[in-house]
Amino acid sequence: MDRLIINGGACVKGEVSISGAKNSALPILAATLMTDEPVVVCNIPHLHDITTIFELFGCMGVKLTVSENMEVEVKSDSINHFKASYDLVKTMRASILVLGPLLAKYGQAEVSLPGGCAIGSRPIDLHVRGLEKMGAEIKIDSGYIKAKVKGRLKGAKIFMDTLTVTGTENILMAATLAEGETIIKNAAREPEVYDLAECLIKMGAKIRNHGTDTIYVEGVKKLNGCRYKILPDRIETGTYLIAAAMTNGKILVKDTSPLLLESILVKLKEAGAKLRCGNDWIELNMENKRPKAISLQTAPYPAMPTDIQAQFTALNSIAEGSGKITETIFENRFMHVQEMKRMGALLDIVGNTVITKGIKKLAAAPVMATDLRASASLILAGLVAEGSTIIDRTYHIDRGYERIEEKLQQLGVGIRRVPSSKLDKTS
Ligand code: EPU
Repeated sequence: MDRLIINGGACVKGEVSISGAKNSALPILAATLMTDEPVVVCNIPHLHDITTIFELFGCMGVKLTVSENMEVEVKSDSINHFKASYDLVKTMRASILVLGPLLAKYGQAEVSLPGGCAIGSRPIDLHVRGLEKMGAEIKIDSGYIKAKVKGRLKGAKIFMDTLTVTGTENILMAATLAEGETIIKNAAREPEVYDLAECLIKMGAKIRNHGTDTIYVEGVKKLNGCRYKILPDRIETGTYLIAAAMTNGKILVKDTSPLLLESILVKLKEAGAKLRCGNDWIELNMENKRPKAISLQTAPYPAMPTDIQAQFTALNSIAEGSGKITETIFENRFMHVQEMKRMGALLDIVGNTVITKGIKKLAAAPVMATDLRASASLILAGLVAEGSTIIDRTYHIDRGYERIEEKLQQLGVGIRRVPSSKLDKTS
């Protein structure tokens, strides 16, 4: 197990390239299970969550060929096992994404119930209810969701009573091979859901209106292989932009898509950043000024993503003035706050809001990463702390940020990874 050591006082300057989106790659890889033909997925990020899904595919008998540049060919005609075991699901909840595809293509699936999570209770009742509405027989037995269907799933009108990203994705994938039309109402509009739908269309699925809150799917008997490049990671993009904004820096973020980041860019402008954008790049320049505190509230796309609020909290901790960050998606996504307080940040949690009073500098301290985005926010805090910040449990960061220390080093940050023998992997 490793830990990260970050030297404070950095000024983030230079260029960085953004990797493919984790939250697109995972559902798109799950979708490849629905065809006997090879599917080549390009721009896959090199992340621990991707390794976990490859491990899951290996257990199911799926054949994978990974090229050096992370183009992955998936051949699932050899699949002989339809189970996602607890060991894998407990390390990555997104394993639930194989439920819809396996059921739609093979009429059976067994997926461990994900259980608790550091950021909230995260139930999967809407995935299950949607599939039941399509004719699946589902029972929960010994900690597993055991699903089967005789023949094909049936198209249905499905209203998702809470907006759910992976819930929409599971139903969308299952609907592509169902008999008749499925209408998903109150569907998630996240770019990663859109990306999945685009890949499914390339595989021969008939989908309309994706990217809106009502998606129409006309089931087909069979899907085909294709080659598909996944979209850039908007949260990784936002994290590097915030790093530059917090350190009075200047950054050119390449291979990204500014269109996916409107809500984030608006807040960075409010914080005082000068922004310029092209089709696939964003330049942020703080002109050596300290950022101003911002207030925001997380909500489903196109509003502010929950996956970036911890990073904005880090920015507020050293910004001029005070700000309020309100979390509305997950009930326990403030685990970074206590750690930042240990670094001297003036933060108060009131209900589902963190109220910040910015100070000029934080003080380095040993801190503990509790989940993926909390880890990112602690790295950001480390950039503006006096001294060396040591972050334990870095396996969280490796789930979602490709080569983070290499990318930060290129941007002038003193950061290194050292092995740590005393880590306790409990979350
Ligand atoms: N919910 C239910 N019932 C369900 C499903 C969800 O009540 O059956 C609730 C959840 O408890 C939560 C809300 O709906 O309060 C939204 O959760 P959602 O299902 O959208 O989350 P998810 O699909 O499990 C994905 C991302 C998360 C991201 C959320 C919200 C993937 C693999 N994960 O999770 O990403 O935070 O959407 O945008 O796409 C991350 O990358 O760090 C991460 C956690």
